Amino acid sequence: MRITVLGSGYVGLVAGTCLSVLGNDVICLDLDELKIEKLRQAVLPIYEPGLDSNVAEMVKVGRLRFTSKYEEGVAHADIIFVAVGTPQAKNGAADLSFIRAAAAGVGRHLVKKSIIVIKSTVPVGTAHMVKEIVEGELASRQRTDVQFAVVSNPEFLREGNAIQDFMRPDRIVIGSDDAWAVEIMRRIYAPLSRNHDKLLVMSPRSAELTKYASNAMLATRISFMNELSRFAEAAGGNIEDVRRGIGEDSRIGRHFLYAGAGYGGSCFPKDVRALVSAGRSLGIDMSILAAVDTVNNQQKTILFEKIASFFASRGGLKGKTIAIWGLAFKPDTDDVREAPSLALIERLLSAGAQVRAYDPIAVHTAKTALGSTDLVTFCSSAYEALAGADALALVTEYREFRTPDFDRIAASLTEKAVFDGRNLYARADLEAAGLHYFDIGRGNGV
Ligand SMILES: NC(=O)c1ccc[n+]([C@@H]2O[C@H](COP(=O)([O-])OP(=O)(O)OC[C@H]3O[C@@H](n4cnc5c(N)ncnc54)[C@H](O)[C@@H]3O)[C@@H](O)[C@H]2O)c1
Repeated sequence: MRITVLGSGYVGLVAGTCLSVLGNDVICLDLDELKIEKLRQAVLPIYEPGLDSNVAEMVKVGRLRFTSKYEEGVAHADIIFVAVGTPQAKNGAADLSFIRAAAAGVGRHLVKKSIIVIKSTVPVGTAHMVKEIVEGELASRQRTDVQFAVVSNPEFLREGNAIQDFMRPDRIVIGSDDAWAVEIMRRIYAPLSRNHDKLLVMSPRSAELTKYASNAMLATRISFMNELSRFAEAAGGNIEDVRRGIGEDSRIGRHFLYAGAGYGGSCFPKDVRALVSAGRSLGIDMSILAAVDTVNNQQKTILFEKIASFFASRGGLKGKTIAIWGLAFKPDTDDVREAPSLALIERLLSAGAQVRAYDPIAVHTAKTALGSTDLVTFCSSAYEALAGADALALVTEYREFRTPDFDRIAASLTEKAVFDGRNLYARADLEAAGLHYFDIGRGNGV
């Protein structure tokens, strides 16, 4: 099938590439001309494992092209996927300006029967809004004869595992009231549904809410465990034992129960807030989700609080140097949007400390997010970050941080303290190396 994907970010580029791998003829369109120019030269705007080789292969076989021109992208396609950003607006709601612009761009150039598929995470009612915008553009061109359907098809991929997630989805949610559009969607996704039917067909509004509900549930589990980890720390329990104890209950399950330094990323924070905001405008008090956000904001300060408390009896943080391992909001991505590392770095700098940071992938995005400062030194290896540092904070659980040389860490750090924001290490190993060790909720507070 002939497909155009609007927006070439984490979702659009992965979806476009995977759809071309599945045999479709795909154009990826982005308004950012520099991004498109680089993509044409096989320079990817994002890091995602395996994406570069797939893009190169699909470009080579001629099933993947790039453009910044709506005229070209819309004329090409029978199916237009919308994967533009829906960032947080100032009031917490989803900012739909990119969606509106994309819908208008489609409406201005639509010439044949098409399906517009919304992959972006959008508030309930957005498919309806997109339909109205496209109808308005068609009417102003006196082309109301052009038929189209708008389908909601939220994306559930995880950065760092995006290709695998797209190709092997747990479920495929299709929100549509048009039987012909559902049939086409069924055909597009048939290669991913061979083992059993993964399509869940529902109304566009239910599909839109399903995506928010999914992210909100996952964020809730994390905040729940983070809140309990604080309780465990104060009362003397071990949150890891509690995690195992509840995770074995099949009604609860094992996933997404890890206490840590708070969730970040481009989805959970903004989607939880967008749902709270949408509830408010409907007169519904989303008090659980408001609390999920509050708990997460508190949790993002927890490493700083532990570091500040440790240094309080050692002359304070002014003039100290803290090494940070991991800047991305999760392993295997260069995405630092709302990353706990950034919140920690900002606090450390305001307390007069300096930072030596290392991340195997996300240094370039962290540099942009933090702006120019002499107080943060970006290092090219984990051990280089320790040179001259007083303490180490582990923020992102990359595989390469799992079994470090604790003797080497102890020899490098002046104050010999490790703050483990992901409960990656065993206390006994660090204490045997002469290190002070602080984790999240495993009992060292009592
Ligand atoms: N990142 C994820 O892990 C993830 C997962 C599931 C769903 N989502 C949702 O998918 C959507 C996209 O997220 P993302 O992380 O890929 O965003 P992103 O910021 O990485 O990419 C968005 C792209 O859209 C482009 N764009 C903006 N306006 C445009 C327009 N009118 N026409 C064409 N291109 C335009 C931007 O230049 C940018 O390249 C969001 O709604 C997000 O919530 C993201």
